[in-house]
Amino acid sequence: MTNLLINIDHIATLRNARRELFPDPVEGARLCEESGADGIVFHLREDRRHIHDQDVRRLKEVVQGKLDFELSVSDDIVGICCEICPDLATLVPERREEITTEGGLDVILHHRVLYQTVARLKHAGVEEVALFVDPDMDQIDATRDTGASSIELHTGDFANATEEEDQTRELFRLEAAAGYAHQCGLVVHAGHGLNYHNYRCFADAVPHISEVSIGFSVIARSIFVGLGNAVAEMAQLVKR
Ligand code: PXP
Repeated sequence: MTNLLINIDHIATLRNARRELFPDPVEGARLCEESGADGIVFHLREDRRHIHDQDVRRLKEVVQGKLDFELSVSDDIVGICCEICPDLATLVPERREEITTEGGLDVILHHRVLYQTVARLKHAGVEEVALFVDPDMDQIDATRDTGASSIELHTGDFANATEEEDQTRELFRLEAAAGYAHQCGLVVHAGHGLNYHNYRCFADAVPHISEVSIGFSVIARSIFVGLGNAVAEMAQLVKR
């Protein structure tokens, strides 16, 4: 059974747009869990554009299920993650000018710093460390060699494909990558751009996915149906 982790960053995006104290992403996390999420994801960005440091500390106290801390290799953010010691730390690439995470890590190019960061997080007691990568076999080999226990496959190219042919090609890449990562002994996660329309197509084609991280589509739908219903609908799709 695949676990559903909900990314609550965009509740904070809305709060910060008016420099208000609401909507509170921590209250949102609580509601997501009550409505069927197996855990919560947040990304503490270097520019703090959505989640703030105090949110992180409160999330650690409130979240009952799995807490996934997404982060770059930036020294001070890694320090906060070590202090918080979430259930899972997912290392992602980060560029200040990007609107959202644009692709997977180049684990081959940045092997040394990723190896050192994985070791630092594990030493601090973070039991599961994942790297967010594109569905590419060489990147998967490099991920295994960093000492990470898990991999999050980037599903963005699949989600963004507008032509059926491109979508099919991306599904084949994800299917092969998930199989290979599993064979390498990595726990396989997936995320980015998954939504109510493309999720079943993805899940029917790609094996070994132990959890998915979904944010934007659920928070966007919550404007029309409420957060509890939006999460429950996604949970129903994922658990079917
Ligand atoms: N996984 C990672 C590593 C991400 O950076 C994001 C986006 O914050 C997601 C999953 C969730 O993507 P989306 O918001 O498109 O569902």
